[in-house]
Amino acid sequence: MRFFAISGNTQTKVETAGQKFKSIKVLNEMPADQMGKVMNMMAASLGVNCKFCHASNDGDYEKEGFEHKDMARKMLKMTFDLNKNYFEGRPEINCNSCHQGKSHPQPSFPLKPVAQETRPAQPEKKPSVEEILAKYETALGGRANLAKITSRAIKAQRIEPDGKTFEDEEILQKGSKMSVTTIYPSKQYGDYAVKEIFDGTAALKFGNGAKIELKSDETEQIKREAEIFANPNLKAIYPKMDFRFVDKIEGREVLMILATNSDGTRERLYFDMMNGLLVRRVASTPTVLGNFQFQVDYAEYKDFGGVKLPTTLNFAVPNIRWTRKVLEVKNNVTIDDAKFAR
Ligand code: HEC
Ligand code: HEC
Repeated sequence: MRFFAISGNTQTKVETAGQKFKSIKVLNEMPADQMGKVMNMMAASLGVNCKFCHASNDGDYEKEGFEHKDMARKMLKMTFDLNKNYFEGRPEINCNSCHQGKSHPQPSFPLKPVAQETRPAQPEKKPSVEEILAKYETALGGRANLAKITSRAIKAQRIEPDGKTFEDEEILQKGSKMSVTTIYPSKQYGDYAVKEIFDGTAALKFGNGAKIELKSDETEQIKREAEIFANPNLKAIYPKMDFRFVDKIEGREVLMILATNSDGTRERLYFDMMNGLLVRRVASTPTVLGNFQFQVDYAEYKDFGGVKLPTTLNFAVPNIRWTRKVLEVKNNVTIDDAKFAR
């Protein structure tokens, strides 16, 4: 089986996992930059961590002699065969289709009716994208108030999934530029500062000042978060937007817009039907096991100088999640451009 990365209309050969990694027997032709995603999707589907199949959670991934790793190879082959033979190669079946968060799926059948998830009643007249976006702008505080805020300095916290561990964050925004610095404290090695920047054109990441390579989808997400934060005019961000349907998130009715980016990838944007605010954004990156999702839930909007901002942001990708809590917002502070420099 061969996998290609599509860029523009040409098929470009990219570095494969077989070329980059040391002990690959199944995923040889997969683009190497999908490795982390696929591993996290497998771990999430089985509800396990890396160590379940590997020697440890942080290294030695090429080592052999592990029963679960061998079984996972068989399972990868089976999954690819199912998709190839029964779904014209579309990645309809993945590890989660059977595993559903369990390492060992039990053969059983439902013994009582399972409640069907139904979509809420659909409106007779579909709302237009323009109506949804106008309501969003008004809900945030209105165009005049939005125009008054040109920069922000924000104190926040990154909260880890255990709910107890947290790191301090400093977020700076000036026009379309944004930087997020997260400080990971360590008594042994000293503080480690991770900084993500969107300088208006490109996204960059640094660890204690040293550049960290970003995958193309990571670049896109840093950029998009900055764009959405700075600019409620989502039409300027997404070249194409279509209202799809009314859905439900945590009991609340939401309007789903399918938004297409300039590179052709799509995102789902969910707006609260009652208050008009953006409550969820889901982006996805194709992999050999299907779409790798990146989800942000925007919650607890609060007013800061006439403009509302979400103060709880829940970020999630398969196997990794974290929360950002906004603690303090200062509007229209002077920020040196050097803060967003490469
Ligand atoms: C369900 C089992 C399973 C889990 C869980 C799992 N892996 Fe893997 N991993 C594999 C298998 C199988 C391969 C080899 C794939 C092949 O042969 O094509 C592999 C290969 C790798 C490789 C390539 C190593 C090399 O140089 O050959 C890396 C890196 C890796 N895994 C990282 C991770 C990380 C990080 C996690 C946790 C987020 C993880 N894996 C979780 C089964 C697993
Ligand atoms: C069509 C259903 C199906 C799919 C798809 C599937 N599995 Fe499985 N998997 C099973 C079943 C059933 C078992 C238990 C087999 C047994 O008892 O011998 C299992 C067992 C395993 C085990 C052994 C667990 C243990 O505790 O011994 C691993 C590891 C595993 N699967 C990984 C994966 C990975 C990784 C994927 C995706 C690449 C995947 N599976 C996709 C059905 C599936």
